[in-house]
Amino acid sequence: MDVKEIDQTVSAWLEELGEHTRGLIHEHLTVKTKEGNERNLVTNVDVANQKWLLAKIQSLDPNARVIHEEGDSNRPTSTDGDIWYIDPIDGTMNFVHEHVDFAIMMALYRDGKPVLGWILDVMNQRLVHGGPEYGAWVDDQRLESPEDVNLEHAVMLLSGRRLVAGYPGYREVADRALAFRVLGSSGISFSRVILGQASGYYSKLEPWDFAPGTAIAAALNLAVTNLDGQPLNMLLSNSVLIATQSAHRDLIKMFKD
Ligand code: IPD
Ligand code: CA
Ligand code: CA
Ligand code: CA
Repeated sequence: MDVKEIDQTVSAWLEELGEHTRGLIHEHLTVKTKEGNERNLVTNVDVANQKWLLAKIQSLDPNARVIHEEGDSNRPTSTDGDIWYIDPIDGTMNFVHEHVDFAIMMALYRDGKPVLGWILDVMNQRLVHGGPEYGAWVDDQRLESPEDVNLEHAVMLLSGRRLVAGYPGYREVADRALAFRVLGSSGISFSRVILGQASGYYSKLEPWDFAPGTAIAAALNLAVTNLDGQPLNMLLSNSVLIATQSAHRDLIKMFKD
């Protein structure tokens, strides 16, 4: 399959799964906590969505290697070849309590390099997708690079939990930016930056959280790195900074000083 065929195939899966997930929003959910942390939730929908997407990927490639959030025990240890990423519900807290601002996300990387990423804003029925060769798209509309604003003029998205806990850098970003917001979903946050509705996002994230948005951002004039300005490790959790080029330069300089 070429890149366009892969995009069309996966986009159709996500559309179908998004519709199914919207239908469950007011149904009774089984909500469990993970690792004894009351703020780390998993529902029956997270588990079922992941199972459904895994079966779809396996129907394309029975030997596919997949990095997925729920029960991720067989995580690949090398980026050689193709790796798929699945976050079956991103923003589970929002899904359970707000019924809005959550995403279903996937990505495909080849030898550690992005091919395609997909972020479905489930309730707004909006699919942000694309990759470095294929371009960035919202539904079937091609996206242009967002305006290159500096930090002073940037609306920055942040992890609220890390800001409140005083993790390094978060307070400084909030202070220096024009404004800061906390959305509670890495996927929705990445898509806001890709759509030019915010100029940056800073959080510590797992590969299924950042792989989709990083792939799509690669088609645009946006920078995605760790705090040292280095490429992200696609197998492990990273501090992740996506921003317009100018805001990214300002932030990396600020973190160094
Ligand atoms: C979480 C959300 C949240 C981010 C967390 C993620 P989940 O994903 O993206 O915004 O701050 O780090 O774990 O667990 O709801 O898929
Ligand atoms: Ca989770
Ligand atoms: Ca999730
Ligand atoms: Ca997530």
